[in-house]
Amino acid sequence: MDDTIMINKIRHGTVIDHIPVRKALMIPRILRLTEGKDTIAILVNAKSRLMDRKDIVKIENRILKDSEVNMLSLIAPGATINMIKDYKVAEKKSAVIPQRIEGLLKCPNGHCITNHDPEALTVFDLVTKSPLEMRCGYCNVSIDESEALKQVSGE
Ligand code: CTP
Ligand code: ZN
Repeated sequence: MDDTIMINKIRHGTVIDHIPVRKALMIPRILRLTEGKDTIAILVNAKSRLMDRKDIVKIENRILKDSEVNMLSLIAPGATINMIKDYKVAEKKSAVIPQRIEGLLKCPNGHCITNHDPEALTVFDLVTKSPLEMRCGYCNVSIDESEALKQVSGE
């Protein structure tokens, strides 16, 4: 571990650890990190004891809510989310596929109201976890895992 890039420990905030490689780059979009004033550090391809390589995201001064933690399950189901208080790991959480996702996914139905009313926030409810299926709360059209990932990654 002597020839690797290190990021300082943080005093208060959230460390998302054990993210599959390159998936960290999707996290600012999922958590809307760059809309706020948070200082964030993203480490891609870090050396790991447990995994071959991993990504890490550190967010200063922001403790993620459970609903935010759960959104991470779409891209990094095995991630560990560490809540840091006073330099200590106060709590470790793992991401659980959420029952409901608001304002992140776009409805694939061109006629859906969410694609016409700029004020409308999209709502998707979980139908099945495996394979992943989520259904639009307005028009009932479904999204599968590959569509959700495509949207979340911005591809
Ligand atoms: N961390 C941090 N700032 C702190 C405390 C911890 O950035 N003040 C980071 C550590 O660098 C590590 C993660 O938070 O990436 C989890 O810390 P810790 O639980 O101490 O590490 P491990 O025991 O290796 O975690 P795990 O067992 O989950 O692999
Ligand atoms: Zn819809």
